[in-house]
Amino acid sequence: MNKEAITNIDLLKVIKKRWSPRAFSERPVEKEKLIEIFEAARWSASGYNEQPWRFIVGIKGTGTTWQKIYNSLMEANQLWCYRTPVLVLLIGKKTFSHDNSVNHWYQYDVGQAAAYISMQAIKNELYAHQLGGLNTKEAAKSFDIPDDYEVFTAMAIGYLDSPDVLADNLKEMELKSRTRKKLDEIVFSDKWNSKSEILFS
Ligand SMILES: Cc1cc2nc3c(=O)[nH]c(=O)nc-3n(C[C@H](O)[C@H](O)[C@H](O)COP(=O)(O)O)c2cc1C
Repeated sequence: MNKEAITNIDLLKVIKKRWSPRAFSERPVEKEKLIEIFEAARWSASGYNEQPWRFIVGIKGTGTTWQKIYNSLMEANQLWCYRTPVLVLLIGKKTFSHDNSVNHWYQYDVGQAAAYISMQAIKNELYAHQLGGLNTKEAAKSFDIPDDYEVFTAMAIGYLDSPDVLADNLKEMELKSRTRKKLDEIVFSDKWNSKSEILFS
């Protein structure tokens, strides 16, 4: 299925191709491709180069990690994540390691690393669907995550399958076209909410 960004602008191929599917194939994901994904996250930028991101990776059918992440998901996400071969928990360290002061950018940095994961996945025809709908407290407890760290999101990673594997209501969402705000709603110059000079031709 093609859900590429509809744009006349010459975007990077991975940005154009990335989207958030629900119809994941049950095909396992090769370990070397997962390593590639987390290596990409590793090279993301971060405030003070703190690298506050941490990832807990669950492979379906091995150990208990996948199941624990799955159990923490909201039911609406469980309804399609049950097929996903890889579930990841994204966590951030709240303080700087060099002086224990509060790191005001740890959330920003983890989000940025998540974007790198999503892009690198596309290189190998893999897709990452980020999930805020989870019980973060339950997830933190089930993995004994220390207080200095915060669970933010989960992520489903896998190959695409046909939308037909989904229940009807989810299939409808899968087939819906992707929408975005216009550039002049998000890019300003001069004053707040004014159309940016870069958009005048
Ligand atoms: C922080 C965050 C939380 C999200 N939480 C969920 C979620 O709980 N369930 C879900 O189905 N999609 C979730 N999404 C996916 C968004 O709905 C999706 O990215 C958005 O609709 C744009 O679609 P696209 O990624 O296909 O371009 C989340 C995305 C982000 C970045």
